[in-house]
Amino acid sequence: MKLTKSEFELLTDVGYSVKVIELYMGRVNVGVIENPDVNLAYTGQCGDTIQLHLKISNNTMIEDAKFQYIGCPAAASSGSALTKIVKGKTLEEAKKITDQDILHELKGLPKVKLHCTKLAVTTLKKTIRKYENGREKSSYLE
Ligand code: FES
Repeated sequence: MKLTKSEFELLTDVGYSVKVIELYMGRVNVGVIENPDVNLAYTGQCGDTIQLHLKISNNTMIEDAKFQYIGCPAAASSGSALTKIVKGKTLEEAKKITDQDILHELKGLPKVKLHCTKLAVTTLKKTIRKYENGREKSSYLE
């Protein structure tokens, strides 16, 4: 799908960066991972949802990350930026990712959309917590 010149200008006029438009239109990392090590869907206060899928190697490194979403272009591009950033990071490094890191990768968002980065970051933190809780539980099992 391509944007017309006026659609592109509409998005940039309200404050979406070219980078955001690129990630959103390219659907970067949108999808699922077959047999993920963990996945989790989280719905923010605005009602938008991101489901994150992670493949983790040696219980430490995020080898692959994909996501699905129901929400605005800022939620989608935040998911794309997040999944780009986390690939190749250890879980400990990934836990330190902030809204600002996403915003930096996106090269800006309209002011009213700044909160959308939080949806991606919160989903990541909750997904890692789910993975670690699962590992902890399985360490008690035969
Ligand atoms: Fe909900 Fe963008 S408005 S994440």
